[in-house]
Amino acid sequence: MQHRILNYLIAAVFVALIFLTIIFVTAILPATTFQPEATKQGAYVYTLSEAHGREVYKREGCVYCHTQFVRYQDREMGEMVLAGDYVNQTPHLLGTERTGPDLSNVGGKYPDAWHVAHHMQPRAVKPGSLMPSFSYLSERDMKDLVAYLQTLGRERELEARRRGLDGKPEHKEVAGGHSAAPAHDRLTWLEAPQEMRDEWKRVSKNVDTNNSAIANSGRGIYMQNCAVCHGVTGRGNGPISSSMIKKPANLTRPFYRAYTDALYYWRLKEGVAGTRMPRWGRSLSEQQLAYLVAFIKTLPVDPSTPTGQVEVTNYSQLDQPQLMDKNYNEIERLSELHAENPELVPGGGRH
Ligand code: HEC
Ligand code: HEC
Repeated sequence: MQHRILNYLIAAVFVALIFLTIIFVTAILPATTFQPEATKQGAYVYTLSEAHGREVYKREGCVYCHTQFVRYQDREMGEMVLAGDYVNQTPHLLGTERTGPDLSNVGGKYPDAWHVAHHMQPRAVKPGSLMPSFSYLSERDMKDLVAYLQTLGRERELEARRRGLDGKPEHKEVAGGHSAAPAHDRLTWLEAPQEMRDEWKRVSKNVDTNNSAIANSGRGIYMQNCAVCHGVTGRGNGPISSSMIKKPANLTRPFYRAYTDALYYWRLKEGVAGTRMPRWGRSLSEQQLAYLVAFIKTLPVDPSTPTGQVEVTNYSQLDQPQLMDKNYNEIERLSELHAENPELVPGGGRH
């Protein structure tokens, strides 16, 4: 009998020891040894309007449908977030549900007017969207909410740099020559921000983008870097496009003929937020980007792709029923075309 109790006792001690070891290895050890350095990257101070916009975002429950984090496994949604992105974020608005897309990188992706139109009437700019309309917001709430959205992601990074708020004084130079208005204020549908246009002026001095020899050099760079997604012929049907959620742009759409060189340059350099279109400015030189612009311009226009572009450019248009009808019709036509022949309209455009 005595012997049996002793056995139980030993077993109990043994189990407790295993339990404590597990706790030690999985909880106590990491908590004491993992002390990453606080990062300053992305630290950003909100303006009053942006801070109020954040409150509106919280109040309206955007967080129930939208997340604000991109982890390694979500890289399809764009740039991964870094710890510094969350400085000054109390309470955080990470979210857990992705009924709508992740918004970590949405800043700078659309002009302000697009956001307003989208909040007023989501289905006018995104067919089939199940996002509710927020048309009841006061004009101030709307304006501030959009200002807040424009701070998300790279736009915040760029803006912090412009304002010298990222703790890197050397960047103040960048802020110097330009007006204090953030880039997205100056965005129109088909125009690169002023500093990009200035940069392009400098870059394009040495490269004639209408020269066929230059375009030919661009072709080589394109085949190596871009054809996997955009396809050898630029139709957005490269080998890996089939597995992508947001399809690569079909660069043969007549729509793209309206693009200026500077706009192409900007898109290539900064990538397309929220998609897998990389920020090529990180891996290609300015000259290589210019060669690419020259090449893209030589891609043939495919007349079988739709020419229409959905245009909601300002608040007042939303009150014009004929215009909204036109948009709806255009959207319907595009979606029908897409349903009939999915590879005909693979993404592309910024609508
Ligand atoms: C019921 C869920 C739901 C709520 C609530 C919601 N959204 Fe959305 N949102 C969506 C869906 C679905 C989409 C994708 C379709 C579209 O673009 O409309 C979307 C898209 C967006 C986009 C475009 C993202 C992109 O990259 O194209 C923005 C910006 C956005 N929402 C902001 C907001 C804001 C701000 C609020 C709060 C005022 C909000 N949403 C509330 C579901 C929601
Ligand atoms: C990993 C896949 C991938 C690679 C590689 C890639 N792209 Fe893209 N590209 C995309 C996606 C996705 C989009 C976004 C389409 C959209 O907006 O719906 C895009 C969009 C674009 C656009 C249109 C942007 C706009 O304003 O609509 C251009 C121009 C472009 N890419 C050029 C290039 C060039 C040039 C290269 C090579 C240097 C390249 N891409 C490499 C995936 C890729």
